[in-house]
Amino acid sequence: MKDSFGREITYLRLSVTDRCNLRCRYCMPEEGVCKLTHDDMLTEDEMILAVEAAASLGIKKLRITGGEPLVKKNILEICERACAVEGITETAITTNGTLLPQMALPLRKAGIQRINLSLDTLNEEKYRHITRRGELKDALDGIHAALDAGFEIVKINAVLIGGFNDNEIRDLAELTLKMPIDVRFIELMPMYDSGDFGNEAYIKGDTVLAQLPEAVPQEADGGVARLFRLPNALGNVGLISPISAHFCGDCNRLRITADGRIKPCLHSDDEYRIKGCSREEMTAVMKDAILHKPQWHGEMSYAERTHTHRDMNQIGG
Ligand code: GTP
Ligand code: 5AD
Ligand code: SF4
Repeated sequence: MKDSFGREITYLRLSVTDRCNLRCRYCMPEEGVCKLTHDDMLTEDEMILAVEAAASLGIKKLRITGGEPLVKKNILEICERACAVEGITETAITTNGTLLPQMALPLRKAGIQRINLSLDTLNEEKYRHITRRGELKDALDGIHAALDAGFEIVKINAVLIGGFNDNEIRDLAELTLKMPIDVRFIELMPMYDSGDFGNEAYIKGDTVLAQLPEAVPQEADGGVARLFRLPNALGNVGLISPISAHFCGDCNRLRITADGRIKPCLHSDDEYRIKGCSREEMTAVMKDAILHKPQWHGEMSYAERTHTHRDMNQIGG
């Protein structure tokens, strides 16, 4: 279905939990989440109804997100049922990767085709710092597990943080020389409550290009990243620039939060409740949400924060 600006909405991001086994500083507060009761969260059956409703409106691509989706107990059942919904032809998951050593193969068998993993640094101490508790080795093992399990595409997401990892741009980009993966640098987005970063942390995606003069532009793959390739690389380097070069004009996304709200835009406070609805009711609510999808997310910077009152873990990225 098209929104009121003529954008065809074909991509659903379904957040299955707001919980996470890490606490990335740009994503969620150190104390974790306020525990929502079961009654506040979508049930597995409701998630499947929601995917069916979305598919009936023309959604083709489904990405499972979190929090960390792999901490959800019934994640494999959700993936298996959601991937089997008629009309869903592309299936993906975004994860921090730390649980992939045991989960990669079961996820692949459940029907997930592609996987995106978060990795912001290759330094053990810095990994512990940015995630407030994670071990780099677990994330690296996760990448290898994803490759071994035979996902069609494996991408790394690195949030670009001035003063933290801008001195690792080349090291991260050069992972594409060693492994058949894409490495994408994402501009830091100023979320609601998770920002203990100063102005200098907000650096432009183009910083990456300045450090990789040999990178050659590539054709887009239908996603939000501008793509480049290092000579002899096995995968692409991507730039996701929601702040300096926002991609709202081509936005094809709809989001569902774990507490059962449709979010037509990541950075808007507009939400549409589907918790407790039948499939028909969900379809009607989604139509309404699509028709009210904002044109763009408005100016954002260190000083001008997102308009949504949620942190990233409560949306799913
Ligand atoms: P592909 O399907 O592989 O292109 O993945 P993706 O980029 O859609 O998903 P992923 O979960 O890997 O997200 C990567 C980054 O892009 C995250 O930081 C998201 O928050 C950001 N992102 C994805 N969609 C949007 C969007 O509509 N607006 C903004 N501002 N950021 C987005
Ligand atoms: N700004 C940019 N990207 C973010 N992510 C989480 N929080 C932020 C933020 N504040 C990214 C993570 C994850 C993806 C879903 O969202 O890197 O890979
Ligand atoms: Fe967890 Fe991913 Fe958020 Fe980090 S970015 S706290 S891994 S959901």
